[in-house]
Amino acid sequence: MRVVRSATDLRLEGSVGLVPTMGAFHEGHLSLFRAARAENDTVVVSLFLNAAQFGPGEDLERYPRDDERDARLAEQEGVDVLFAPAADEIYPPGFQTWVEVEELGSILEGEHRPGHFRAVATVCLKLFNLVHPDRAYFGQKDAQQAEVVKRMVGDLAVPVEIRVCPTQRDEDGLALSSRNAYLSAEERERALALPRALQAQDRSLLNGLKVDYFEVANFEPRVLAAAVRVGGTRLIDNVILEGDNR
Ligand code: PAJ
Repeated sequence: MRVVRSATDLRLEGSVGLVPTMGAFHEGHLSLFRAARAENDTVVVSLFLNAAQFGPGEDLERYPRDDERDARLAEQEGVDVLFAPAADEIYPPGFQTWVEVEELGSILEGEHRPGHFRAVATVCLKLFNLVHPDRAYFGQKDAQQAEVVKRMVGDLAVPVEIRVCPTQRDEDGLALSSRNAYLSAEERERALALPRALQAQDRSLLNGLKVDYFEVANFEPRVLAAAVRVGGTRLIDNVILEGDNR
């Protein structure tokens, strides 16, 4: 596996699959690497902690980082190139161009994290323009993010196929997330109410937690999506609604 710091050194061959990430890899990320590996000649994983998509007071400073472990895991999964650009390659001095997916980016997560999806859409478009992937891989765990990216790609005719892969969960049902690392044992126990409430489609199971939203979203596929706070940690999850399962 090559670790590449600048897009000018990418030199990719054959069909290219890109998995955009912010690092701190877990099985959710690895499942995307495997999907990309199965469908492309060359697999690129981008690792860029996109500060612009974190709001003031969010967890940018404590976001877990372990570049060496990430590189090892990516290599084990057969990733060809780990693309870890410097901040000024993504946001050159004087940067002032942003992609806003207006409606999809302002509901649910967008309502609670203003500016979040604008920064996500922008960094994804930038990565697509630097890497020129044939396919890009996203997790169903972040259903609204996948929807925003699909919309942006359709609206702006970006020549990339967006592939969305199933949510990976721990044995207890909690969706894997880099943010799970913040949970104490007691908080983790309380966090299990999130997958349970979604599975049962019963909001009352979240009683005692701070609920940002618990709503059906007419994405493709339709989902029941929720965000809760457990102590200082904000968790999101969703389930695909029956009949839309494909
Ligand atoms: P990050 O949180 O690192 O996630 C990278 C990819 O892994 C996303 O597509 C996300 O949906 C997927 N993922 C995370 N947890 C998952 C799980 N439990 N099961 C399946 N897939 C999972 O999402 C981002 O980074 C950023 O917003 C990014 C798209 C890289 C733009 O900065």
